[in-house]
Amino acid sequence: SSLHDFLVAVPKVENHLHVEGTLEPAMLFAFAARNHVELPKEPEWANVESLKARYSKFTCLDDFLRYIYLGASVLVKAADFEELAWAYFVKAASMRVRHVEVSFDPQMHTVRGVSYDVIVEGLMAAKRRAVKQLGMTIEYIACIHRHLPLADSTALVDVILERRHLTDGTICGVGLVSSEKPFPPVMFADLFKRVAPTGTKLTAHVGEEVGPEAVREALQCLNVSRVDHGLTAAQDPKLLEELARSRTLLTLCPWSNVALGILPELSQSPVRRFLDAGVRFSINSDDPAYDGAYLQDVYCRVQDTFNLTLEEWDWIVRGGIEGSWVGEERMKELL
Ligand code: HPA
Ligand code: ZN
Repeated sequence: SSLHDFLVAVPKVENHLHVEGTLEPAMLFAFAARNHVELPKEPEWANVESLKARYSKFTCLDDFLRYIYLGASVLVKAADFEELAWAYFVKAASMRVRHVEVSFDPQMHTVRGVSYDVIVEGLMAAKRRAVKQLGMTIEYIACIHRHLPLADSTALVDVILERRHLTDGTICGVGLVSSEKPFPPVMFADLFKRVAPTGTKLTAHVGEEVGPEAVREALQCLNVSRVDHGLTAAQDPKLLEELARSRTLLTLCPWSNVALGILPELSQSPVRRFLDAGVRFSINSDDPAYDGAYLQDVYCRVQDTFNLTLEEWDWIVRGGIEGSWVGEERMKELL
């Protein structure tokens, strides 16, 4: 469409991107070899092509999560995390992404014996390089895993607070991820209350597979200022009104929803409903190496499906910037 050139050229921000979700199969196999990590024996793990073919057939969130956890097992050393994040930053810069809010899942690694400090060391090294060499800004969001025993998440919060990472600029926000179904937000209310006094930003993955009640619960029980996905909020007109009034950012990942089998096709994404309701939202990639589309592709696919106007794209891109967790000065540069 005529907007294609605009969508390539427009400076972008990404509010919803998991660094572990940028692990391309080629890098996965290379890291497994150099770290002597054994991968599953099933035929889908034979090579890059067979693994990609399996990624194209995810049936639900938990099916996808099984693969991202297996993939993450090749990340062992600080240098692995640095190389992974750096490769994404280079790709992002080539898509004119100027600012990224990068989620990482410490428990995806600490459960395997990789220390929190090793992860952060690698990620911070990549951030310093990207800021200096690519002129990007990057903020990290530490995400709590819902499916693990609460004591495990409490131990993670203990370490983050002990290191003072929520106040020294290392981590800008705390999120909630992994299986949504049997783990309602209220289970994490006390943990979120413990980190809130630091002034850290709060978000949660909700309304991806569970209905609008999960979005309401995250807003009420966790006091999040942003909602990751929030897809099912579209089913609740009153909630949409409240989200519009409070200018809460939803970090939509329309292609991820299709890739994980949550939506049958992109045309089913409630992009129009959110636009009509005046809800602030951004378009994001989520786990591009697993979903098969980086941010530029997602923008273009959304445009091919919905044929949005320049004004509508302006609203979306602006929403992502104004909902970003950056200081006033940087926000002015991005706008
Ligand atoms: N949902 C929940 N957890 C996740 C996701 C997601 O889309 N991506 C990575 N971890
Ligand atoms: Zn996500």
